[in-house]
Amino acid sequence: MGYNRISDANEITARYLDSVLIEERLIDSVVASTKTCFLEETFDSPVMTPAFSHLGQYNGRELTGMEEYSTAAKELNILNFVGMMENEGFRKIADTGARTVRIVKPYADHGKVIDQMKFAEEAGAFGIGMDIDHIFGENGLDVVVGEGMAEQTFAMLREYVELTKLPFVVKGVLSVTDAVKCADIGAKAIIVSHHHGRLPYAVPPMMVLPKIREALKDRDVKIIVDCGIASGADVYKALALGADAAAVGRSMLPSLEKDGIEGVKAFIGHVTNELRFIMSCTGFANVEEINDECLRMPDGCSSLT
Ligand SMILES: Cc1cc2nc3c(=O)[nH]c(=O)nc-3n(C[C@H](O)[C@H](O)[C@H](O)COP(=O)(O)O)c2cc1C
Repeated sequence: MGYNRISDANEITARYLDSVLIEERLIDSVVASTKTCFLEETFDSPVMTPAFSHLGQYNGRELTGMEEYSTAAKELNILNFVGMMENEGFRKIADTGARTVRIVKPYADHGKVIDQMKFAEEAGAFGIGMDIDHIFGENGLDVVVGEGMAEQTFAMLREYVELTKLPFVVKGVLSVTDAVKCADIGAKAIIVSHHHGRLPYAVPPMMVLPKIREALKDRDVKIIVDCGIASGADVYKALALGADAAAVGRSMLPSLEKDGIEGVKAFIGHVTNELRFIMSCTGFANVEEINDECLRMPDGCSSLT
């Protein structure tokens, strides 16, 4: 029979994440705090919402999925992200009062990129960014819901950074090479991600994270990671491997669909509680202290980095 090897980056990522194990350090440990300082503001958790788009209204409820999870993010006091949408959609997200980063698509229509970024700034966004992992598609440049995308150069990304006083976030970084370019253009944060598996055989974000952390150690760039994050243990591993924060993704969807705002609050609340528990059990009292000391590969003894 033909080709049957696993090229799905989601599966490869899940396997890698599950292979990383956690040791305990109980004596002298205290109940940990999940308070997080991120880009000069304080949040109750390093868990963030994903940059989602195109979610309708679930179960006949009034708000769209994006409006519901943004409201939950506001109530949880965590950083919120949204993806592709028109300006009137973003206005409704801004109206929820959540501190939100708007991720704009790399549209071929350069004017639209600039317009959406300016609109977000005027609407009071926390930050703006671009998902560079949607530039290319199998027929050349990607087309998303009928809209063409364009190649993005270093100079173009630097133009976006210079255009706004808000922090600029590059989403879809999966190599040291791109991470260093992001630092050089003046991005304030990157999201290490393969965008739920767009690239076959994509390296797990967690696997490349330690190298990116090392490359950016003297740079003023925050590191967020996403893809396959579904529990407090996953967030703990992300932080231990070098991330400052981690975003849940599709793992949030069943709770969002079923119970809306309350569902997302319960789900992310549970993820944060599990994170606090594991931090307490491994001797890290605060989020900034977490390192890879308690991570072990399946052989039970080797540290990862
Ligand atoms: C329904 C849906 C819509 C999404 N829309 C966007 C988007 O517009 N912009 C973006 O940067 N990422 C978008 N993403 C990707 C997520 O932000 C995130 O990177 C990805 O879901 C992480 O992987 P995970 O679902 O395995 O956690 C979308 C994902 C889903 C499932």
